[in-house]
Amino acid sequence: MRLGLFDSGIGGFTVLKKVMELCPNNSIMYLADTARLPYGVKSNNEIVQIAEEISTWFSYQKIDAFLVSCNTTNAIALDVIKKNLDVPVFDLIGSASSIIKEPRVGVLATPSTVKTKAYTNAILECHPKTFVIEQPCPEFVPMIEMGNIDSDEITNAAIRYLQPLLKENIYSLILGCSHYPLITPLLTKMLPSNVKLIDPAEALSLKLKLFLDSKVSNYSKKKNLVDLKFYVTSNLKNFPNKANYWLNVFPEVNLVSLQKKGCVS
Ligand code: DGL
Repeated sequence: MRLGLFDSGIGGFTVLKKVMELCPNNSIMYLADTARLPYGVKSNNEIVQIAEEISTWFSYQKIDAFLVSCNTTNAIALDVIKKNLDVPVFDLIGSASSIIKEPRVGVLATPSTVKTKAYTNAILECHPKTFVIEQPCPEFVPMIEMGNIDSDEITNAAIRYLQPLLKENIYSLILGCSHYPLITPLLTKMLPSNVKLIDPAEALSLKLKLFLDSKVSNYSKKKNLVDLKFYVTSNLKNFPNKANYWLNVFPEVNLVSLQKKGCVS
């Protein structure tokens, strides 16, 4: 099957990695909108425009399913994406919220995601008695994109972001931005052992696997990926190194213009 996914940058790698582990043997197109990174401090109007352009671009590609690998777009413009694509769409927020079992939950996310309260609303819809507290983390994405993942700077930011959540005695912590699983080692060090980290990519990949298994009868026997292609909207030169560092792949990377519908380069 041919899967499409996107993010502002390298955040979607965390979704891609889980999908490659759980659902091998697919052709994957990964679009990184590097020209407009970061998304997480943009207005709703800007995110809607971005979602419109990205889903339109993917509507011209041959894909069988689409994975919304960016929580900010998921929170603000999931309906826009679904409207423009006529393939099944899998999202992070809906997938993660449905599997929450703990009564007190913390969410780390971008400022734009937190403003929508999308995680709180989705969790309460499935489990109305849950206590949910959301924390915006504006400094994380720029630092993670720069590879600044174990400095004092990011450690201090993490301490500041986690403090209000830990005061509320949470039992689980949702990584509500796809960039954040890239700093799991740092966050794990700071969390009490009774707080479970939740990466929404796991729930999304499980849902995707169920879908793929139902579509392809002899699926998932072999562990080799069929095809992996990356597309970026800027910074063509840096991206292969980032993909190699985080995913251990040397992919083909193409520059695209989202304004020119369907064009590759
Ligand atoms: N990784 C995306 C998310 O999950 C976007 C983060 C950003 O660009 O600020 O929200």
